[in-house]
Amino acid sequence: MTDASSPTTTTAFGTPGTPGAVRLVLLGSGELGREVAIEAMRLGCEVVAVDRYEGAPAMQVAHRSRTIAMTDPDALRELLRDERARPHARMLVVPEIEAIATPVLEELEAEGVHVVPTARAARLTMDRAGIRRLAAEELGLPTSPYRFCSSAEELRAAVRELGFAASPDRFVPCVVKPVMSSSGKGQSVVRSPEDADGAWAYAQESGRTGASDVICEGFVAFDYEITLLTVRHAGGTAFCAPIGHTQEDGDYRESWQPQPMSEAAAARAEEIARAVTDGLGGHGLFGVELFVRGDEVLFSEVSPRPHDTGMVTMASQRLSEFALHVRAILGLPVPTDGAGYVPLLGPSASAVVLGHRDLDAPAFAGVGDALAVDPSVELRLFGKPESRPGRRLGVALARGADVAEARRHAVAAAEAVRVEG
Ligand SMILES: Nc1ncnc2c1ncn2[C@@H]1O[C@H](COP(=O)(O)OP(=O)(O)OP(=O)(O)O)[C@@H](O)[C@H]1O
Ligand SMILES: [Mg+2]
Repeated sequence: MTDASSPTTTTAFGTPGTPGAVRLVLLGSGELGREVAIEAMRLGCEVVAVDRYEGAPAMQVAHRSRTIAMTDPDALRELLRDERARPHARMLVVPEIEAIATPVLEELEAEGVHVVPTARAARLTMDRAGIRRLAAEELGLPTSPYRFCSSAEELRAAVRELGFAASPDRFVPCVVKPVMSSSGKGQSVVRSPEDADGAWAYAQESGRTGASDVICEGFVAFDYEITLLTVRHAGGTAFCAPIGHTQEDGDYRESWQPQPMSEAAAARAEEIARAVTDGLGGHGLFGVELFVRGDEVLFSEVSPRPHDTGMVTMASQRLSEFALHVRAILGLPVPTDGAGYVPLLGPSASAVVLGHRDLDAPAFAGVGDALAVDPSVELRLFGKPESRPGRRLGVALARGADVAEARRHAVAAAEAVRVEG
């Protein structure tokens, strides 16, 4: 049994469930994990899907599944030790979410377990302080101005400082976010200094861990925002064409590819993405979130794993972000064009299907209508066992002659799907 920490293309892919298996232990089994599982299984890997509840999307397709609280260090350590003790040729631990007891990953990595992309990357990106300090303070990358605050009082001071930085008589809004949160949870915009206490209270209620420090960021009036999918693989670094997206309540609604950019902004985006992914290290696909204003590009945050806005690549690329992630982590080739970009099939878009109320075992009507919108339309319905207002339950994908047409198709298809009890 070996735990190769630097995979090579020479490893054989044995039969799942036998000692020759290449085993992926997926920490997080949502819709992104489900696609990673499918891509890994296509290459003959054995997939173990882990999440905090039974019947999660990736569990429905994996070879085996296990249900634990991944934030519980003892439970996570026991699970990973147990998986390591089962015969295998190679084992990779693949985090799909941020909320994981990352010190355990560092502990296991020190014992020789391969964590994707690295345990340090998982730790630095699980809270906003780790990644912001690396990007802005160590790597010197441009970001919004920011302060970390541990009390309502500190937040009040930070809001005044950042809000009045440019001029004492004009207040620039700030964005307040719990340091440990995703999908916009606990996030609010402070439009006047008096809103600071409300933003503090809101962040405390809705952060991932209850009481939490917050980051206060100066509001960036960007022209558009992108995700630059960046693949660190055995042959170097590759990029996917920039993905544009819209966000509502801090969660993504639509994404499209390619987002048109000036040459200068595109070059700067590449430079920033390369710097931050080199700073994190390891092999895998990263979703680098950037704000663009004219030719100026600001770093926002990064996922060391496939990104929700990157679901559009299931329509736009022969190798989706999930296929690219699996190739990169296994040490397999990632094909690119001469400029280092993964080839694009054509303008494409995605639009999300959201739940509107609390429902057990939701059902989807209108699937035929959605697929009839355009021959290019595809759906991914995630099979989540419960619907909640605003919960992402599926995504519509489409192509078009241009991005505008692709977006129209994707939105019309998503709207045609009805979530029922
Ligand atoms: N400083 C800022 N200025 C302007 N808009 C911002 C700022 N910070 C965040 N936003 C907006 O809010 C969105 C969500 O912010 P961010 O990515 O930091 O939160 P998140 O909870 O990690 O979201 P996700 O998990 O969906 O990536 C951004 O994509 C952007 O549209
Ligand atoms: Mg984000």
